Amino acid sequence: MQSQTYSIGVIGGTGPQGKGLAYRFARAGHRVFLGSRSPERAQEAAQKLNARLPADQAVSGTSNATAASVNEVVLLAVPWNGHTELVADLRDHLAGKIVISCVNPLGFDKRGPYGLPVSDGSAAEQAAGLLPDSRVVGAFHHVSAVSLLGDAEYLKDEDVLVCGDDAAAKGVVQELVRAVTGRIGVDAGALRLARQLEPLTAVLISINKKYKTHSGLAVTGLTRSH
Ligand SMILES: NC(=O)c1ccc[n+]([C@@H]2O[C@H](COP(=O)([O-])OP(=O)(O)OC[C@H]3O[C@@H](n4cnc5c(N)ncnc54)[C@H](OP(=O)(O)O)[C@@H]3O)[C@@H](O)[C@H]2O)c1
Repeated sequence: MQSQTYSIGVIGGTGPQGKGLAYRFARAGHRVFLGSRSPERAQEAAQKLNARLPADQAVSGTSNATAASVNEVVLLAVPWNGHTELVADLRDHLAGKIVISCVNPLGFDKRGPYGLPVSDGSAAEQAAGLLPDSRVVGAFHHVSAVSLLGDAEYLKDEDVLVCGDDAAAKGVVQELVRAVTGRIGVDAGALRLARQLEPLTAVLISINKKYKTHSGLAVTGLTRSH
């Protein structure tokens, strides 16, 4: 259980990444609302997660708009395709919130995965541009949904890199990372570095395919208290 807990909404909470992070956040004692374009779909996803969670850590399913408006922290766990419209539509609901983006704009062709060019630089920067009254932080780009939904207590061998321009919001997200790895997230710098972090996931997916694994990132050379 983390010392400070948050209420966290997950936009696109019916997908593997949203569910995986929701599962980890709920296990750590945060109050979690899965969002969806269909509240019924979100409730079904919540029911499935709740079968793995104690009753006092149960997650709820709702609409994306409610998941955005009733929580202090909101995770965008939606595909890049449709991102602009979705985020713009939630602008008022997300005002004043810490918004985490784990969105990776990736393409796939016969040579494998690759990072798509993004006119705003990155998905996280696009979100920041569309949400002038929110505090956007990039994180969780490199954590596999399969690992998140697995049985390991923590993903102890992995680091989560966190980027953002609002130091306090970034600090909150670094603390939330404890739910996933068991230790604080790595401050990876300014939000614009999402331009490097998001497409790096294409490399991990390529490694996964070659080695039949679910790879993640670990940063050496850091001294961190757990
Ligand atoms: N999967 C991973 O291992 C992984 C790892 C790191 C980062 N990520 C990133 O996390 C994000 C989510 O990944 P995912 O694999 O969970 O994605 P996904 O399954 O393709 O989509 C997640 C949810 O988004 C909603 N959605 C789909 N298309 C949409 C659209 N056009 N507009 C609005 N909502 C839409 C759907 O929920 P409803 O239909 O219920 O609304 C869907 O269940 C992606 O940006 C991905 O790059 C994924």
